[in-house]
Order: sequence, then structure tokens, then C-alpha cells
Amino acid sequence: RMTALSVFLLAVSVASVLAESNVYFREQFEDGDAWTSRWVESKHKSDYGKFVLSAGKFHGDAEKDMGVQTSQDARFYSMSSRFDDFSNQGQPLVIQFTVKHEQSIDCGGGYIKLFPSGLSQEELHGDSVYNIMFGPDICGPGTKKVHVIFNYKGKNHLINKDIRCKDDEFTHLYTLIVNPDNTYEVKIDNKKVESGSLEDDWDVLPPKKVKDPEAKKPEDWDEKETVPDPEDKKPEEWDKPENIPDPDAKKPEDWDDEMDGEWEPPMVTNPDYKGEWKPREIDNPAYKGKWVHPEIDNPEYTADPEIYKYDSIGVMGLDLWQVKSGTIFDNFLITNDPNLAEEIGNDTWGQTKDPEKKMKDSQEDEERKKREEDDQGRKEEPKEEGEEEVKQEEDEEDEEDEEEEEEDLEEEEEEEEEGTDSQLKDEL
Ligand SMILES: *[C@@H]1O[C@H](CO)[C@@H](O)[C@H](O)[C@H]1NC(C)=O
Repeated sequence: RMTALSVFLLAVSVASVLAESNVYFREQFEDGDAWTSRWVESKHKSDYGKFVLSAGKFHGDAEKDMGVQTSQDARFYSMSSRFDDFSNQGQPLVIQFTVKHEQSIDCGGGYIKLFPSGLSQEELHGDSVYNIMFGPDICGPGTKKVHVIFNYKGKNHLINKDIRCKDDEFTHLYTLIVNPDNTYEVKIDNKKVESGSLEDDWDVLPPKKVKDPEAKKPEDWDEKETVPDPEDKKPEEWDKPENIPDPDAKKPEDWDDEMDGEWEPPMVTNPDYKGEWKPREIDNPAYKGKWVHPEIDNPEYTADPEIYKYDSIGVMGLDLWQVKSGTIFDNFLITNDPNLAEEIGNDTWGQTKDPEKKMKDSQEDEERKKREEDDQGRKEEPKEEGEEEVKQEEDEEDEEDEEEEEEDLEEEEEEEEEGTDSQLKDEL
């Protein structure tokens, strides 16, 4: 049973959430081609890849899963959408969107960039200054991570932690929450995958403490934990030769001293040999412990209670590179209300994820059945003499063509993978 007080508190908290809740940007691509009036393609380069409206090969809902899909392989993509400029001062900032790599991506970005409103959208490119870059990035088996990059006082800072992204073919929900107490949280599919403090997990500020440059280890500081025992003496019977003449050896009967020289027994290892004597170690009575370099407050350090803060946030951008296209972006949301974002995530991605999987499963079932039927059909096909040989030759030719094509493709991919790396390096 609720007490009057708890009802009151609940009312207050609901009221305050409702009062403060703000949605700065939302894009669901549910109104046909109208999105093209809200998104601006960059003209910085002439050969950017085209985004097209699509719900994909398989989906949970043909309408709700409409998003923008990269449609050309090995291209840069660059477009953005503007909203009313705001600052996240004193409030949480929540950035959320869905990404679906239905093409089973080998290399390509799946992240967004959040820009200050001063951005010239037609000039958007890889070096355009952004506030935050967030989302998955995949390139080969080595790179499968969620980027969280903050621009702090003009420099981009990568997160120190490794957050793994999803690399399957389904739609996933990515959420970044930046709080005004300089903490953050990253969620994938509405589950927390990382959290912590901005100061600890990014090298935005210099360290708080540094080693005191004035301090030096005293000359007489004894750091040896043990010393040889001065009381310990070498036992008298210790020293024995390492090798001795074999006591069991006998001079052969046919040994001729004059012919063979004087007989000497062969040397063998002495079982009594004890090696070099060392006094036993005892605790060092003068031991002072390990010397610890004293630290002082770093004169370079200035606390910043507003690391999280951006004065101007006004453009959502997709500025990325893809080797294999087909990624669908959808359900963009920027709000100050983490709970609302979670709810919207539940109502969008949460509603379509299971039907999406079902549709893919049934497509795969059908494909398998069709393959099996084809295989069956081939086996049962009656063969006439002579026909078989001709067919084989044709098959071989086809294979050769395919191999050549594959090689060309691989070469292209290699060149372009290098392109991605260098692009990212430029940005950082
Ligand atoms: C979202 O869905 C999850 C799983 O059903 C649930 O636990 C959570 O409370 C929901 N969140 C909101 C804000 O409705």
C-alpha cells in the first residue's frame, strides 16, 4: 500500500520528468521520401555514396524498419540533419540510434557524429570538427568496437576502454548517456555495456598527481629485503672436487704401459661435490621497505566540473566509409531523458527485433529447401552420352571468370582498408 508521502514523491518525480523531458531530434524515416528534405548530402567530394530508403532484405515491420541504407560499395558517405541548437549544460545528453549490418559487413563505420550548429552541412567531411562521435566500427576481425570520442577543447579523445560492438546481421540499438556529473553510460540493445567517469575513462585532463621532481631516494636507503647471514660459515668438509677418477675403472689387462703410456682411470662426476658455497640469506635488519616516490599535486592539472558540456549541439551526421555497403541507420533520437530513450528503444527496436529474426530465419529455411531441391533435381537428371563432357568444360570456364573477379575485388578492398585507417588517423 502506498503512503501519502510516497504518492506525493512519485507525483513530484513524474512531474519533474515530464517538465524537463526534451526531445531535440528524432528521425524514423516513416514518411516516404520526405527525409530527403531533412537531410543534406555533403558536396565536399563529388563521389559520395548514396543513401537510399529501405527496410532491408528482412525486417520486423516493413514501415517501422524503414531507414537509410548505404547502397554503394567502397564509398565515403556524408550527410547530416539539422535541428534547433541547444546546450546540454546541467542536463543529461542521450544519443540513440539503430544500426543493422544486414550485408554481414567486413569493413565499415556504423557511427554517428554530433556537430555544433556552426557546421556547414554541404561542406561536411572527415575533418569537420564534431562534438561527439559514437557507434560501432568494424574492420576485419581486428576492429569490432564501439567508438566514444569526445572533442574536448579542440582535441578528439578516444575512450580508454574497449567496448565490443555487435557484428551480426540484425538491428541493434546503441545508446550513449552523458551526465552533468561527468559520468557516462553506453548501452547496446537497452543493456548497459560500459559506464564510468569522463575524467577516468578519457585522457581529457592531465593526471591529478605527479611524482615530486624534488624528491630523491636517500643514498643510504636500504631496499634489500634479505642479506647473507654473517654468522654462517662454510662447513669444513664442503670443498670437494667436481670430477674424480672413476673408482670402479680398472686398468685393462692387455694394457701395455710402454706402448700405451701410463694408464689413468677416466674422470667421472663426483657424487660428493656440493658446488659453490653460499651463506644462507636472512632478513635484512636495516631494510627500510621499498622507497616510494612521493607525489605532489600536478601543477598542470585544473579540475573541470563541466567536461561533459557542449555549448552548441545542432547537427546529426553520418560521415563514414564502407567497403561493403548495406548498413541501415534508423531511429535517431537525441533527448535529455535517459528513461524516455529507453522507452522509445523498447517501442521501436524492442518491438521489431523478434519479428526481424523470424523473417530472416524463414528466409534461410526457404533458401535451404530450395538448395536441397536443386541438388536433388541435379542427381535425378538423366544424362546422355557426350553431354557430360561439354558441360564440364563450360563449368571450368565459369569458375575461372569468377576467380578473376574475386581477385579484383580483394585488391580493391585492401587499398580501401588502408584508406579507412588513414581517415581515422586524420580525425584523431
Ligand atoms: C524496456 O524493456 C525492458 C525489457 O522488457 C524492461 O525491463 C524495461 O523496464 C523497459 N524500460 C522502460 C523505460 O519501459
